[in-house]
Amino acid sequence: MAPGNEAGTAKLEYEGKMVELPVFEGSEGEKALDIRALRSQTGMITYDPGFGNTGACESNITFIDGEKGVLRIRGYEIDDLAEHCEFVEVAYLLVNGNLPNPAQRASFSEMLTRASLIHEDMRNFFRQYPEHAHPMAILSACVVSLSTFYPELERSEDEEINVQTTRLISKIRTISAFSYKKFIGQPFVYPRYDLKYCENFLNMMFSSPVHPYELNPVVVKAINQFFILHADHEQNCSTTVVRLVGSSRANLYASIASGVCALWGPLHGGANQAVVEMLEEMQREGWTAADVIAKAKNKESGFRLMGFGHRVYKTYDPRARIAKEACEKVLKQLGVVDPLLDLAFELEDAALNDDYFKERNLYPNVDFYTGITLRAVGIPTNMYPVMFAIGRLPGWIAQWRELWGDPDQRIGRPRQIYTGPVKRDFIPISERG
Ligand code: SDX
Repeated sequence: MAPGNEAGTAKLEYEGKMVELPVFEGSEGEKALDIRALRSQTGMITYDPGFGNTGACESNITFIDGEKGVLRIRGYEIDDLAEHCEFVEVAYLLVNGNLPNPAQRASFSEMLTRASLIHEDMRNFFRQYPEHAHPMAILSACVVSLSTFYPELERSEDEEINVQTTRLISKIRTISAFSYKKFIGQPFVYPRYDLKYCENFLNMMFSSPVHPYELNPVVVKAINQFFILHADHEQNCSTTVVRLVGSSRANLYASIASGVCALWGPLHGGANQAVVEMLEEMQREGWTAADVIAKAKNKESGFRLMGFGHRVYKTYDPRARIAKEACEKVLKQLGVVDPLLDLAFELEDAALNDDYFKERNLYPNVDFYTGITLRAVGIPTNMYPVMFAIGRLPGWIAQWRELWGDPDQRIGRPRQIYTGPVKRDFIPISERG
């Protein structure tokens, strides 16, 4: 099956041979060279480390225009979703393809609430981890373990996937909050029937038997918006991992757990934690913005300006613009004065006016300001990638389900250019010098 609409052919000439390869066009005008016949027709493969020029799939979930800074989820602008929706609506949009009507919204919320407990035996998982285990390690282990507590049910595949989807979107909150409580040595707080998605998560995080948590609407909206900004981002590293693991027909829990591990890296979803740690070090060491920019430009330093740059966006990440506005607003409404925000402003200003960053189209990405907002609502830095995972989960699930339903999809298995030793005769160990 062809991705999108036919858009002519491209000719490839090499060593006196000419092959014609089909070109296809997506609904937003992007063009792709279909190279599925390349090796059979030419004996050659393509070489594209990091897949920067390689389309792995056709998708109708999320569109990004990196040059114009556009992000749309199922056709809706991220600005509209962030401004007008709650996260549960965007999760429904991703998994079902349309925004829910009031009845669908109520039914989805009810299913999420009813699925919010984890099996009591899973509580023991948390007790066995060392004191300061990183919550991302616990999250990935618990997610893959859900497949042992909830083996495939005897129901139609679609119905089973819907159950697994709702179960995961709901339980990821409970697992995440429990991993935080484990980290701070407090008793677990169970989900409540009377609280909605984000409220329940915040209550499980911050309530305690001796100090009930008072929900602040500013914080609830900030967390809803944080999750929406992270909900999906087409074929990023962790989503590609979820699809690749799913392409072997591994179950949904195993595929998502793999995505959690990929997201953990500081170049990806771990960047929000790395940004705040970078700003804290800047404050502790008394570095100026110029000092930090100089370090980032010095290749020998191995230092990167975390929260800056993006493989796709060559202008301001639209999520970063929304996150920056939200960060200022939330801190002001909460009466929080955080010197790290001023340092972030100084760094952004210095970088955007520096030729090194301008020449490379390096702008703030989604991670540059989001951590400061999380800090203001009391979430610790090692939970920031976990927050990213909670937001990205509906996107991962939507992408995984799209892969499973795509007749074009086969098990992912890239090729390589081998540059190792050519054939060598075997030498018995007794004869080796
Ligand atoms: C996310 O893909 C997605 O959609 C991801 C994401 C999502 O929603 O899923 O948007 C979430 O992961 C956002 C990115 C979070 N990571 C960081 O903030 C880490 C810091 N950023 C960089 O490491 C980097 O910009 C990446 C990883 C984000 C992108 O890397 P690329 O596309 O491979 O770019 P590159 O490393 O080839 O850099 C190109 C040039 C290099 O310099 P030259 O070799 O041309 O001289 O830009 C330089 C790099 O050294 N560069 C940076 C830089 N980012 C790129 N230099 C200093 N600081 C930086 N942050």
